[in-house]
Amino acid sequence: MAFELRHLKYFVTVAEEKNFTRAAERLFIAQPPLSRQIKQLEDELGTELFERGSRPLELTETGKFFFAHAQQLLSHAAEIKAMTKRVSQINRTLSIGYVASTLYGKLPKIIRLYRYEHNAVDLQLHEMTTVEQIKALKEGVIDVGFGRIKHEDQNVHRIVLREERLIVALPIGHALAEGSDRLQLKSLINDTLIVYPKAPRPSFADQVLSAFHDRALTPKKIIEVRELQIAIGLVAAGEGIAIVPNSLIGMKRDDIIYKDLNERHAYSPIIMSVRAMDQSEEIRNLLDLIYRIYDEEQIPYVRGTL
Ligand code: BEZ
Repeated sequence: MAFELRHLKYFVTVAEEKNFTRAAERLFIAQPPLSRQIKQLEDELGTELFERGSRPLELTETGKFFFAHAQQLLSHAAEIKAMTKRVSQINRTLSIGYVASTLYGKLPKIIRLYRYEHNAVDLQLHEMTTVEQIKALKEGVIDVGFGRIKHEDQNVHRIVLREERLIVALPIGHALAEGSDRLQLKSLINDTLIVYPKAPRPSFADQVLSAFHDRALTPKKIIEVRELQIAIGLVAAGEGIAIVPNSLIGMKRDDIIYKDLNERHAYSPIIMSVRAMDQSEEIRNLLDLIYRIYDEEQIPYVRGTL
């Protein structure tokens, strides 16, 4: 007998409950067949998974090892189920997660054009961080995420759409806001640096902090805030400065001055994330449309594939 997912589910439930009777109740089966299944599993593995005679039931060292992997396998199987359900939905919907800063880039144009060209597709938009997007993709809540963090996950396929330059947002009247010079990060360390989002991490805040740390620079004071709009509002209030993606220039305010950075490698990527192997027509059309806009507007990028 090769073991099946069912055996793993039984084993994990017994290990969690530390008791056969309670586990059987949770699984809606009688206790004797549950004990038989665990015995079969132990025979198949050629080892004991539970300490014999222990009350409450304790895992052996091998049992602990198997438990950690069984839990991972079961949660992976649950993810596959949720993802497949979502992919198989016949009504054509496309649910998109995005980080707020992409609203100041090409996202509004992409959505407008997509709605115009594919009006049979029901588009839904959800603001969320990159880390939240990965979870939402796996739970089938969204189909596409637009974020900025290179998060590794075997169930998620990432395409770096383009790299966006970082710029500095300064309050009007700031000494560095005068003149046309591009600024260096080292000229900013005596200001309070406002970064976002505070959680979940890693986030765009870490990209900005790394830009300083990579150059062995430490800002005098750092304030972490919940979101981009708060960071910009606090800059306007004179609380500090913020490093933001270049597209923020589109958010014109008369109390903020944006300055270019004179630094190499000061970029933030715009990353499209989809479920691995999801090549649905809606997603292919969306990616084609993004590249068409980049071509028309002569925005530099390296083409990726689904
Ligand atoms: C962009 O600005 O390039 C962009 C923003 C959101 C989604 C896709 C692309």
